[in-house]
Amino acid sequence: MKSIALANQKGGVGKTTAAINLASLWAGRSKVLLIDMDPQGNSTSGVGFFNKDVEWTTADVLEGNCSVEQAVQKAGFGKLSLLPAHVGLAGLEADSLPIDTLKDRLQQVGKDFDFVVIDCPPSLGRLTLNVFAAVERVLVPVKAGHFSITGLEQLFLTIVRLRLRNINPELKVLGLFYNEAQPNTRLHQMVDRVLREAYAPLILESFIPRNVHLGEAQVVGEPINFFDPRARGYKAYLELAEEVLKKW
Ligand SMILES: Nc1ncnc2c1ncn2[C@@H]1O[C@H](COP(=O)(O)OP(=O)(O)O)[C@@H](O)[C@H]1O
Ligand SMILES: [Mg+2]
Repeated sequence: MKSIALANQKGGVGKTTAAINLASLWAGRSKVLLIDMDPQGNSTSGVGFFNKDVEWTTADVLEGNCSVEQAVQKAGFGKLSLLPAHVGLAGLEADSLPIDTLKDRLQQVGKDFDFVVIDCPPSLGRLTLNVFAAVERVLVPVKAGHFSITGLEQLFLTIVRLRLRNINPELKVLGLFYNEAQPNTRLHQMVDRVLREAYAPLILESFIPRNVHLGEAQVVGEPINFFDPRARGYKAYLELAEEVLKKW
């Protein structure tokens, strides 16, 4: 079972959009479990689930109230399943959840899925640490802007520390990709120059342009490959999904 997390402690950079769309694209061929680890539940609603539709959530799994299998829902988009989140998950962030909890729970479904894609909350707290302890790869969406650079160092330090503490020695940053990219602007080129000085081998060739259909798809609760396969955002995610597999 391959596992990858979408992480960046900044909000609004495209973690959720990427988690939904990469998971859905891979679910065309493989059995994919999308795990919503953000109390805001945006990837849950982004694949069409709302609070009233679900009995058990990620928080219940982490707290041991139910098994992963009980909480998992078939999303109805190819072979995509969802472990939904609920606002109650926020309590676990504060409760200093043991760092191995998610990793431990995922062993229950190791044979049921080819892929696990995890959407992280916008923080480097206990929930994100649980994700980093559990996955093989981290994929980082970056939105060109002043603060896109400053947070990355802290994100990478967190990952290095987990490796050094032997919590997840195999954890790797698969790469960074630009979201809502406008490659022809000076801002993009300035940010790209600075990031390449520090992270050149990690910057993926694929990038996601600003595309309003990606936002619309999220509002109606459908991945872009179902909502509008003619959208520019769809083609961009298709390329990203392939590049990630190639670079794995
Ligand atoms: N490439 C894009 N083009 C246009 N809108 C986007 C794009 N990527 C994300 N969005 C929108 O931007 C907002 C923030 O994206 P989201 O994926 O929720 O970020 P995060 O999970 O990092 O907070 C959402 O409303 C989403 O629909
Ligand atoms: Mg999000």
